[in-house]
Amino acid sequence: MRHPPGHEDDHPGREVTGARRRRAWPLALVMHLLATGAALADERALRQGREVFARYCALCHGIAGDGAGPAARLHKPPPSDLRSSARSDEYKELIIKVGGEAMGRSGGMPPWRQELSEQDIRQVVAYLRELKGRP
Ligand code: HEC
Repeated sequence: MRHPPGHEDDHPGREVTGARRRRAWPLALVMHLLATGAALADERALRQGREVFARYCALCHGIAGDGAGPAARLHKPPPSDLRSSARSDEYKELIIKVGGEAMGRSGGMPPWRQELSEQDIRQVVAYLRELKGRP
């Protein structure tokens, strides 16, 4: 729809209010987008972590992370119950990268740095944080 010529000049007051409003809302919008963006990024990272886990880890550690995957009985010591692990995120990242043997533990825990990117590993560790304490 086209405004008749001279429309702006007819309503100078309206322009002033509009300008003030234009200055105020971007900050609120930016804050909102930042918060939503961060929440969405977290959610995406977790979803990707869950996918990595289901694909590469659940065979031994179980889909619930309880250490009771279909291949668990082939391992002694058994795959760890990742819901109740007392290890730090840094330790987990490391053992996921280099495997159990390089950490003086069982070689039943394979090294993953050939298969998984740094980001995959960070995301799967973030997912393990989510599993923590689950029944
Ligand atoms: C082939 C079986 C197998 C697969 C697949 C496997 N793990 Fe393991 N994992 C083990 C075993 C066995 C241990 C226990 C090693 C030990 O106690 O010496 C272990 C231990 C761990 C630990 C140490 C936990 C703690 O509290 O000490 C972490 C973390 C871990 N695995 C994460 C993963 C992740 C993440 C994946 C997928 C990327 C994965 N594992 C895939 C067998 C496996």
